[in-house]
Amino acid sequence: MQININSKISNAVDVYIIDENFNIDSINSELSNYLKNNNSFNGEKLTSFNYINNSESFLLFGIGDVNKTSVDDFRKLGFKIANKLKKLKLSNANVNYISYKNKDNDTLLKAFVEGLLQSEYKFDAYKTKDNDNKQSLNLNIVTDLSLSKDTVDSISNIVEGINITRDLVNIPAIDMYPEVLANKTKELLEPLGVKVTIYGEKEIKEIGMTAFLAVGEGSDKESKFIKMEYNPVKDGELLALVGKGLTYDSGGYAIKPAASMDTMMSDMAGSATVIGTIYSLAKNKVQQNIVGLVASCENMISGKAYKNGDIVRSMKGTTIEVKNTDAEGRVTLADSLYYAATKTEATAIIDLATLTGACVVGLGDYTTGVVTNNDEIYDKLYNSSISVGEYIWKLPVNDELRDQIKSKMADITNSTGKPGGAITAGIFLEEFIEGKPWAHLDIAGPAYADSPYSYIPYGGTGIPVKTLYSFV
Ligand code: BES
Ligand code: MN
Ligand code: ZN
Repeated sequence: MQININSKISNAVDVYIIDENFNIDSINSELSNYLKNNNSFNGEKLTSFNYINNSESFLLFGIGDVNKTSVDDFRKLGFKIANKLKKLKLSNANVNYISYKNKDNDTLLKAFVEGLLQSEYKFDAYKTKDNDNKQSLNLNIVTDLSLSKDTVDSISNIVEGINITRDLVNIPAIDMYPEVLANKTKELLEPLGVKVTIYGEKEIKEIGMTAFLAVGEGSDKESKFIKMEYNPVKDGELLALVGKGLTYDSGGYAIKPAASMDTMMSDMAGSATVIGTIYSLAKNKVQQNIVGLVASCENMISGKAYKNGDIVRSMKGTTIEVKNTDAEGRVTLADSLYYAATKTEATAIIDLATLTGACVVGLGDYTTGVVTNNDEIYDKLYNSSISVGEYIWKLPVNDELRDQIKSKMADITNSTGKPGGAITAGIFLEEFIEGKPWAHLDIAGPAYADSPYSYIPYGGTGIPVKTLYSFV
């Protein structure tokens, strides 16, 4: 998609956004007369109308009462307009964008531009027949508001990061295993000046991440530990982003039913979010030092696999009774978080993980659950999520629940019981962050969409790249 600002394209459709107060007479009298005689379009929210006369063509989009319109509605509007243009096979358009009284016009316009760009995503690498949505758009935004090419580019760079996250999630596990994830990370981030280090199983063992290694034991694919270092600020504070990187979660010997297994290529969405976020930050040259950490493996069944009832030793030394091989994410994160807390200079740690079905039961498909020991981080994350149109919510921890990670045989257990399952998973993780300021984001619901909604495609959603970007 090509977006220019105030440089009129000739022979192009004119797009207008119509709110309740918009005077259509001001666009074109023939069009206005037509609409008066055929009341087929009244500017209702997110409806559209296209009109083609001899010399000019118009595409009208309703936004209703602007005072009842949210920022996210402007994302949806941009998304709808771009898709409508593609559907009508109109490649060139002048998009007229006005300002609204008593509104944060700058924010609305940016959201609108994001929506336009969001329309570009498709995952068709595995389709052998061409689908016809390949058309690229050439848009000119006509506006009195100040919008620079740089602003459009920076939004585009964020959307690119989101799309990278989506792609990484959508590629099936047959083609996306730890080595591939590690190499893709290198390919994507090194050109942006991010140092990427990949550790194989031998090195992971030397580091002492034996809990992580146990989870990948049943797979023929080698586990990889991926470290990304983005350090644009000399002597600046370091933020650690830790992502769950299960390129496939069969459940292991606690095997999942088929219906819960067919989307488990998405169990590396946490790591994909880390990679996509660092991509956007580095591409926009955001001045914040970040270390990204991903312990990537497959949770499979074989004679070598770890078993229900095994006791494994973590890098910290804490022993973990693996009562359930399907609660594998926290076992890998135990070591990645301990690494973040003790082997890096990070002053804050955020982890992202498709960790529990319980979180989806509790909060639904669209909301990220948070377990944290630091309300300042939470408040910033929460405000960031609101500003970008994503949803997060803090889960309550209490001391009674802490008892659920106790094990009879080892120091702690990974199978913490059904009640409060998303919270006790977070309590388990907290054992390994060594008191550092930390927030755990359970993205089991929002990271993957079983059906598309608003501007979110089917499959990998790229949530919550925008929240993290905005947080940083
Ligand atoms: N990867 C799953 C969690 C998940 C569920 C992600 C649904 C996305 C959608 C995780 O490894 C898992 O299996 N969790 C178990 C934990 C339980 C055994 C304590 C679960 O939620 O059932
Ligand atoms: Mn699992
Ligand atoms: Zn999992």
